[in-house]
Amino acid sequence: MTKMDFVTTADGSKTLYNAEIGECYHSKHGAVQESRHVFIKTGLDHYQQRTGASDVAILEVGFGTGLNFLQTAHFIRDKPFQVDYVGIEGFPLPLATVAATGYNETVDAAVWSAYLHHYEAALQQQVQMHERLQFCIAHTLLMDFQTEKRFDVVYFDAFAAIHQPEMWSDAALAHVAQFVKPGGVFVTYAITGNLKRSMKSLGFSIEKAPGAPGKREMLRATKL
Ligand SMILES: C[S@@+](CC[C@H](N)C(=O)[O-])C[C@H]1O[C@@H](n2cnc3c(N)ncnc32)[C@H](O)[C@@H]1O
Repeated sequence: MTKMDFVTTADGSKTLYNAEIGECYHSKHGAVQESRHVFIKTGLDHYQQRTGASDVAILEVGFGTGLNFLQTAHFIRDKPFQVDYVGIEGFPLPLATVAATGYNETVDAAVWSAYLHHYEAALQQQVQMHERLQFCIAHTLLMDFQTEKRFDVVYFDAFAAIHQPEMWSDAALAHVAQFVKPGGVFVTYAITGNLKRSMKSLGFSIEKAPGAPGKREMLRATKL
């Protein structure tokens, strides 16, 4: 397995450094802050407030440590949401690495223990974490991922285009776009001219949203 070391980010939460890719799993300006800002506030919370939906299907590209999943589980704990969460991950981390992230400090104890308890099973099949939250981690490369499901919210959390350009190619984005329901939103921490052009050509409207600390702007795209 690729060598990975933990690095502490500006908000005190940890991230992993992937030496092969030459990049961290999260923003050095704050891993938890970025997750909450980009994916929860600008993605899930925005979608829920706009539509009033109580049933939300979420697709994550690049499940990694599960930080975004954990923040989602924590966010919905006192809300009447039903969430079906699918994470795509080509290179799943061992449970021991996930357990060593320290993300227990950022979510309810019950969310954390249920996550660790179900993590390995979720790599094999869909699991019911509690009555309002089911999840699975599809152990596959993005371009090999297939499903009959269609999603309301996409968390696109690939390594940066400079390190992994193929994840941001027209073909990769088109592959993801086919799984998004009309009215569904696609959020990611970055925004570039190429990304905006690709998403527009795939039938999305584009918004520049304020970025997480350390980034001026991020992309939110809504499928027309
Ligand atoms: C920026 S990290 C994601 C961080 C993650 N969301 C978290 O909270 O820990 C990118 C992730 O994409 C995964 N990945 C890289 N190439 C992939 C591919 N072709 N298909 C699926 N996953 C891939 C990496 O293993 C890594 O977990």
